[in-house]
Amino acid sequence: MAEKNPELLDHNYDGIQEYDNPTPGWWHLIFWGTIIWSVIYVIVWHMTPLIPDRITRLENTRQIAIEKQFAQLMTIDDPITKVRTVMGDENWLEQGASVYAGTCVLCHDKNGQGLIGPNLTDNHYKNLTDLEGMIDVITNGAANGAMPANVNLLDENEIALVVGYVASLRGQMLEGPRGVEGEEIAPFPEPISADQGG
Ligand code: HEC
Repeated sequence: MAEKNPELLDHNYDGIQEYDNPTPGWWHLIFWGTIIWSVIYVIVWHMTPLIPDRITRLENTRQIAIEKQFAQLMTIDDPITKVRTVMGDENWLEQGASVYAGTCVLCHDKNGQGLIGPNLTDNHYKNLTDLEGMIDVITNGAANGAMPANVNLLDENEIALVVGYVASLRGQMLEGPRGVEGEEIAPFPEPISADQGG
């Protein structure tokens, strides 16, 4: 048997002996560091609103994007130019479609073919002869409220969006339950598309 090494501890596990080597400082640092970090992490992430989660961040980003877009639309003063700008832009039309889906679909049906309200996809209109008229009907209603006013429900931009969308439905000639109503009116002014520069 070898001579006893003074650095060895006294235990002897079936012939296995060990030195008294303390774990190094950096190891302790990492060990305690991770424990402290986990406590901070749990508190900050799960118990406080300091860091918004992914979904909130996505929503915030989307909100900012929409506001930026709206700001663009808001810089257009002339209501007709505003509507024509909507008509010329896929994204605006999509937003208009979602206003339509939320507010108008009940009476004019999914694709504008009409239900309680008239068909919006043909060239005949009862209450309007041009785009100004359409803005007026959608803002203030018609037929003593059978077509309800939206002036308190939608803001100016939302009205422009939905007017642009409804105007874009014209000419699709979908079959509707109410048949053709009113007079054929002159074509609406052309859409303004962004790549035409205004
Ligand atoms: C409560 C049912 C109802 C809702 C909701 C409704 N409408 Fe109407 N709308 C009508 C009726 C009814 C008329 C036709 C009134 C008449 O007989 O003159 C009409 C007429 C119109 C007209 C004129 C059509 C024409 O031929 O003169 C337009 C444009 C129109 N609606 C668009 C919209 C839009 C856009 C929305 C959503 C913002 C909407 N409506 C929401 C019932 C509705």
